[in-house]
Amino acid sequence: MIRIVFNQKGGVGKSSIACNLAAISASQSFKTLVVDLDPQGNSSHYLTGMPVRQLDDTVFDFFEQALTISSQRKPVEQLIQPTPWDNLDVLPAHADLETLEAKLESRYKIYKLKEMLQQQAQHYDHIFIDTPPALNFFSRSALIGADRCLIPFDCDAFSLQALTQLLDAIEEMKQDHNPDLSVEGIVVNQMQPQAKLPQQLVEQLVNDGYPVLPVHLMSSVKMRESHQLNKPLIYHLPKHKLTGQFVDLFNHLKEGAQSR
Ligand SMILES: Nc1ncnc2c1ncn2[C@@H]1O[C@H](COP(=O)(O)OP(=O)(O)OP(=O)(O)O)[C@@H](O)[C@H]1O
Ligand SMILES: [Mg+2]
Repeated sequence: MIRIVFNQKGGVGKSSIACNLAAISASQSFKTLVVDLDPQGNSSHYLTGMPVRQLDDTVFDFFEQALTISSQRKPVEQLIQPTPWDNLDVLPAHADLETLEAKLESRYKIYKLKEMLQQQAQHYDHIFIDTPPALNFFSRSALIGADRCLIPFDCDAFSLQALTQLLDAIEEMKQDHNPDLSVEGIVVNQMQPQAKLPQQLVEQLVNDGYPVLPVHLMSSVKMRESHQLNKPLIYHLPKHKLTGQFVDLFNHLKEGAQSR
């Protein structure tokens, strides 16, 4: 199963959700890969502990190779890095990724990522793609290559306005390029149970018929701590409430996928 975690809005929890769901998947003995397409490299850093600039083999090489006709290609398997955790690998991002964007676009390389993901899906049970906060070549490539899309929502009124636009953009990608893509759901993140406004926003989403997933993720300082320690929550604090919510969310997605 190939999942993209996407929202054009920055800071809504894309990287946190992609990495923590991936870590839970790996902890349940599923072979799991995180593909980081965001030049900020937050997921790559979170999962490897390495500064992104120090990573030699990255998804940059994959896209650069897509632009060259050379027999000396590095297979993707050599670009994928192990993490300190069993069953969890990452194809890291690179800060210069955007320098390739115009060339990739003009030379119609939008399907290259899909080809690669489909090959990797033969080796991995679950692939999670982290995306930049933009609908650009890389996030569109990922929407073309994925089976399911998760949309983090940070309970903010501006995010609510942007959701319709976002769902329309995803629907357009589905119609034009990837009929297999489905929106798996909106992941409510940074939920503060005591605060009224977020509750009302989520209720409004549900009443308006948006596909809100039933498991909500609470706001906790432990998330930031987990990033700082480069340790996903399932390894850092397996018994914490937020970790439990991530486990419930992963299990919900897994069961939903099986019953289709
Ligand atoms: N449930 C949560 N509770 C508390 N803090 C959170 C939670 N989820 C995410 N955060 C924090 O919010 C910030 C943004 O999260 P994250 O980097 O995952 O978002 P993003 O959508 O990937 O951002 P960007 O668009 O910049 O890539 C981080 O500092 C992260 O630690
Ligand atoms: Mg991110």
